[in-house]
Amino acid sequence: MNILILGGGGREHALAWAVSQNPKCDRLVVAPGNAGIADVAECAAFDICSGDAVLDFVQTESIDFVIIGPEAPLAAGVADALRDAGVLTFGPSQAAAELEASKYFTKSICDAADAPTAAYGHFRDAETAKTYVRQQGAPIVVKADGLAAGKGVIVAMDEQAALDAIDDMFGGTFGDAGAEVVIEEFMDGEEASFFVLCDGTDVLPIGTAQDHKRVGEGDTGPNTGGMGAYSPAPVLTDEIAQIALDRIVKPCVAEMARRGTPYQGVLYAGLMIKDGQPRLVEYNVRFGDPECQVLMMRLGGQVLDLLQACAEGRLADAQVNWADDHAMTVVMAANGYPGPPAKGTVITGVEGLPQTSSEMCFHAGTGRNESGQLIATGGRVLNVTARGDDLTTARARAYAMVDAIDWDQGFCRRDIGWRALR
Ligand code: AMP
Ligand code: GLY
Repeated sequence: MNILILGGGGREHALAWAVSQNPKCDRLVVAPGNAGIADVAECAAFDICSGDAVLDFVQTESIDFVIIGPEAPLAAGVADALRDAGVLTFGPSQAAAELEASKYFTKSICDAADAPTAAYGHFRDAETAKTYVRQQGAPIVVKADGLAAGKGVIVAMDEQAALDAIDDMFGGTFGDAGAEVVIEEFMDGEEASFFVLCDGTDVLPIGTAQDHKRVGEGDTGPNTGGMGAYSPAPVLTDEIAQIALDRIVKPCVAEMARRGTPYQGVLYAGLMIKDGQPRLVEYNVRFGDPECQVLMMRLGGQVLDLLQACAEGRLADAQVNWADDHAMTVVMAANGYPGPPAKGTVITGVEGLPQTSSEMCFHAGTGRNESGQLIATGGRVLNVTARGDDLTTARARAYAMVDAIDWDQGFCRRDIGWRALR
């Protein structure tokens, strides 16, 4: 089977690493890829958000299966263009990708599905939004409706912060994404991520994880795309996962099908858990990054069979073979992140790291300079990932690899997993 993966971050390196281990994989291409992905796949360069460009590559290179990593090509309708042309594709349609692209859309699906989530209001002008905030009081959460690269959510601990956030959003800070605003009840509890595959009808849970959104130790400082993750998430017990499946995920997936926009791909439910009850914070229509890295480390080569069964509508017969183990990934980021990161700095020590089924250094923003040295090209740069029989072992292995990397222009959090290990 000739396979194309779209994307070029740590998530796609982990996907490519897992897929390449499956004997069914004859040829693997990743676009655009990165310096680490080049070790496990061919890298290709074309516009991955253009359905025509992707289809052209698929036809010229006789690709049998396309796996879409990031949300941008999904929101741009690349999965539709491929499926319309008869190409086997993993990833939701543009209409189904609204579950991530519009917060109000997700709220309306939850309403119809009677899925537990925060109470909310939806606003198209600042004055009505402010009146609502004054009625509800703080803490309260103000969200730009559209895609805002993870920055469009303000958790306002006092009323003034909420009013300021409303002015910012309607003032254009988030561009078109902020032309509509959702204001939500603040939910207290512990967050965890629940990942399921959906083939339009059937739903198959494939794992749980927790990430660390803040840049600083002890979960302080500004939000990032995620500074580390581990799987499984102890707070998401089997019992709570079953409630999330029965009361949140399955009813929402059924509602999507009822509307004529069935959901096919991975659905990532961000949950807030309190007193044994999960409520939906948000859906994402892709694997989390870096949550994907720990899931792939635990699943290995069977991932290709699962993604293929999902794309072919065969999930009812699919099953996941779980190793009863734990995985952790530590993100190494360039100094300055989540602000503008230092770029082009040289990283050494990565080549000597183990590359096994339980220890991998996945690359996110990496490239090579003219002398062939590994350099940082983005904010999040390396995802040092390890598994073990328990989280303590996985963590010790991951940080031992971190310590073998020589990069004085980069940093990581030293406390990944603290909630689970406390
Ligand atoms: P979202 O992009 O919707 O996931 O929001 C980003 C983060 O903001 C979440 O991961 C939560 O930590 C926080 N958040 C979002 N909505 C709420 C809410 N209603 N109550 C409390 N925290 C929230
Ligand atoms: N790590 C959070 C996300 O991928 O959205």
